[in-house]
Amino acid sequence: MFTAVEMAPRDPILGLNEQFAADSNPNKVNLGVGVYYDDNGKLPLLRCVQAVEQDMIKAPKARGYLPIDGIAAYDEAVKGLVFGAGSEPVKSGRIATIQGIGGTGGLKVGADFLKKLDPNAKVLISNPSWENHRALFTSAGFVVEEYPYYDAAKRGIDFDGMLSALNAAPAGTIVVLHACCHNPTGYDIRADQWDQVVAVVKEKKLVAFLDMAYQGFGYGIQEDGAAIGKFVAAGLNFFVSTSFSKSFSLYGERVGALSVLCESKEEAGRVLSQLKIAIRTNYSNPPTHGGAVVATVLGTPELRTLWEKELGEMRDRIKLMRHKLVDGLAAAGVKRDMRFITDQIGMFSYSGLSKDQMVRLRQEFGVYGTDTGRMCVAALNSKNIDYVCQSIAKVI
Ligand code: LMR
Repeated sequence: MFTAVEMAPRDPILGLNEQFAADSNPNKVNLGVGVYYDDNGKLPLLRCVQAVEQDMIKAPKARGYLPIDGIAAYDEAVKGLVFGAGSEPVKSGRIATIQGIGGTGGLKVGADFLKKLDPNAKVLISNPSWENHRALFTSAGFVVEEYPYYDAAKRGIDFDGMLSALNAAPAGTIVVLHACCHNPTGYDIRADQWDQVVAVVKEKKLVAFLDMAYQGFGYGIQEDGAAIGKFVAAGLNFFVSTSFSKSFSLYGERVGALSVLCESKEEAGRVLSQLKIAIRTNYSNPPTHGGAVVATVLGTPELRTLWEKELGEMRDRIKLMRHKLVDGLAAAGVKRDMRFITDQIGMFSYSGLSKDQMVRLRQEFGVYGTDTGRMCVAALNSKNIDYVCQSIAKVI
């Protein structure tokens, strides 16, 4: 039955974890997957999360099925975080939000819904984009193409190229945009450039799908959500996927969401009913634990304050590591100007290293990044930074 089944290639990101685990190099450093580690190289368990879990242990609860769209308080908290508590879309009830299985789950539910809504629409993702965007929308049945984004020569964004590709896209094209902390490049468009993107999306009747997996890792929760406010102000209907994997350090709990901003409360009810079909036919309903933790933290003022503090600490440490990386590379003898690393934002640095250099880094030094040259600066720390800098210096 399976004789003709071919071996699939490893996942370009998660596949590196498998290789890393099998590597016996005692100095190995995993800068492949987008995961934040603290200065001791440990995955943090946030204090706000621990506080909720301790209370849960004191009053253990049985676990029935959740509603198809998840915990109501969770969905409400997501709306507040993404659109602003007390904002017009929240107050008017015209957002359809579902608890998703991580950000990926939110994207997939949105993609399945869109495929039913407009089977012939094309999807545009940035070049480059998160590796899974193409695979995910392709597996939902879409033809996926790219709009220009990264300009290697200029070490920045080819904004003119991006805008003209959006301008040329047929009405109904689904445009996947990174709300903040662009993955993999670390380069975000400016506020005035967002205004232009929003104007084109509106004029050309495109469908914006904002992936917001790193809210709070750039400049702050509100600052990182600013693009959403611009789409709202333009009167657009659009999609936002949310992930709490990084911002709550709850990677394995798969906590995320999808929000769809609709015209009216009545329309949101109909959209929600369709999202529920996509969920029911994929995984029935979401798991209980991660969603309950996040809902409690976001809904309890002291815990919410603590969360924002802890998120801010992660954000600041990443920025510090960016500076240390620039200094360390210069000290290790790298002659290239690497200061662009501090212009980038979020968890990743698009290093400009070639595939050959990335493979050498992995094979000779046990330093893992993706073949595209992406490195997770959130996994650097005061103990591994010198080794990483020296290793990079040797392959450049
Ligand atoms: C990444 O880009 O490394 C993360 O978003 C993890 C993943 O699922 O790929």
